[in-house]
Amino acid sequence: MKLNIAVLPGDGIGPEVIEQAINVTKAVCEKFGHALTYETALVGASAIDACGDPYPESTHELCMKSDAVLFGAIGSPKYDNDPTAKIRPEQGLLAMRKKLGLYGNIRPVSVFPSMIDKSPLRADLVKDADFICIRELTGGLYFGRRGRSEDGNNAFDTCEYSRAEIERILKLAFEYAGKRRKKLTVVDKANILETSRLWRQIAQEMEPQYPEIKVEYLYVDNAAMRLVQWPASFDIIVTENMFGDILTDEASVITGSMGLLPSASVGVHTSLFEPIHGSYPQAAGKNIANPLATVLSAALMFEYAFDLKEEGALIREAVTASMDAGFVTEDISKPGQTARKTSEVGEWLANYIRRK
Ligand code: IPM
Ligand code: MN
Repeated sequence: MKLNIAVLPGDGIGPEVIEQAINVTKAVCEKFGHALTYETALVGASAIDACGDPYPESTHELCMKSDAVLFGAIGSPKYDNDPTAKIRPEQGLLAMRKKLGLYGNIRPVSVFPSMIDKSPLRADLVKDADFICIRELTGGLYFGRRGRSEDGNNAFDTCEYSRAEIERILKLAFEYAGKRRKKLTVVDKANILETSRLWRQIAQEMEPQYPEIKVEYLYVDNAAMRLVQWPASFDIIVTENMFGDILTDEASVITGSMGLLPSASVGVHTSLFEPIHGSYPQAAGKNIANPLATVLSAALMFEYAFDLKEEGALIREAVTASMDAGFVTEDISKPGQTARKTSEVGEWLANYIRRK
């Protein structure tokens, strides 16, 4: 098969972890006889520095003609600490999501047995956690009208959703639930918000089309609580953009390391795969960042963008093996183990795949 991908390393540790994900992708392609072609482009702070635009038109064109986009991370302290900055790296991410029509963000949360003791929760609570958060990604507060009064002392942000936007993300969620344990949790704040009431209404209208799926409705505050009390009770969670942003950060830590969680964004024009962690600027250039979330994002790319299940499974097997062998970076290494470099972990994984 021909795989034509766009590679956007981004900022901070992005380039280092992406390099290892590419090494692993190459090893998989050699092994299974796929023809990989890829081109790299700028996004985020590095794109602002180079051309003043966090999502340059040339980057957009590359993404549009690619079958999939592999993305590192964006963000830089230079902009975080300057609230007056007019152009920010995050705007590049939002522009990219919007222009590529990436409306569905899929974040699988499951626990690697060897990491359970790193979880802030008791092992008996997390050991069976295995769910997917589906976050709406191109609507709501992130993209609503916002502004300030003339004197600068009043500000507003608006949350708007159309029926079409809600239907397409719920459809995705129902379909995912159908392929798994057939349980869908719709998270909203329908006791307060009109947009949430529309979400709930549409979900209820759609329920009869999916009779095999058990649907439950949870307010977002309650969902936040249940995520730490009983994470194993979830199968598919679907929610709007801002709730999803917050809940997925919460969900990510219960597995023991945010450095292990990949994500996929699916949409109208192409799909995009990225680790859920940020650009971790303190570690940039030191070859110590954990590449596993990005490598696992490449596994999702094989599965979701190209329907190559065996390839994705082999990457996941390699990652699990590296953890079982204790061949991991310092953030997840255990007392007595040697912490490995980012590049060493990538090489280990690529060799595992070649040997298999
Ligand atoms: C995420 C990130 C982004 C978001 C930021 C970097 C704009 O936190 O992908 O979850 O809020 O969506
Ligand atoms: Mn976030």
